[in-house]
Amino acid sequence: MAASNLLLLNGPNLNLLGEREPEVYGTTTLLQLETLVTARAQELGATVRAYQSNHEGALIDKLHEARKWSQGVIFNPGAYTHYSYALRDAISSVPKLRVVEVHLSNLLEREPFRHLSVIADVVAHRIMGKGIAGYLEAVEWLLKH
Ligand code: DQA
Repeated sequence: MAASNLLLLNGPNLNLLGEREPEVYGTTTLLQLETLVTARAQELGATVRAYQSNHEGALIDKLHEARKWSQGVIFNPGAYTHYSYALRDAISSVPKLRVVEVHLSNLLEREPFRHLSVIADVVAHRIMGKGIAGYLEAVEWLLKH
């Protein structure tokens, strides 16, 4: 079944989008990002619930809850990407949810510790280095697959 109820999940430090290292992450705020993603999803006939947390367990709770109402997740786990086996296990624990891993920056062109994603092989799709456009591409991907 194509996804039609999407969860937009952003992890640590992404609440500061727009002011945090704008040369890396751009000047769009989290609220603007959430608004853009919601609008794109609505155009394509889907709904979005957006959530951001700086806490690993809160992100895990949202993934678990989402299995009851959502078919697809657009997930930027921030730095947890590189070391959170708990988030990796959470994604594997909800196999009906298709998760698209999104990063604003291109991890492979940054510090070596960012090259590793411990969730890469449990997500359905990955998009990085495209800024905000990557989130919109994730919506489109979820609604097509
Ligand atoms: C990020 C990349 C991560 O390495 C970093 O810790 C972030 C943001 C990105 O969107 O490019 O917080 O996930």
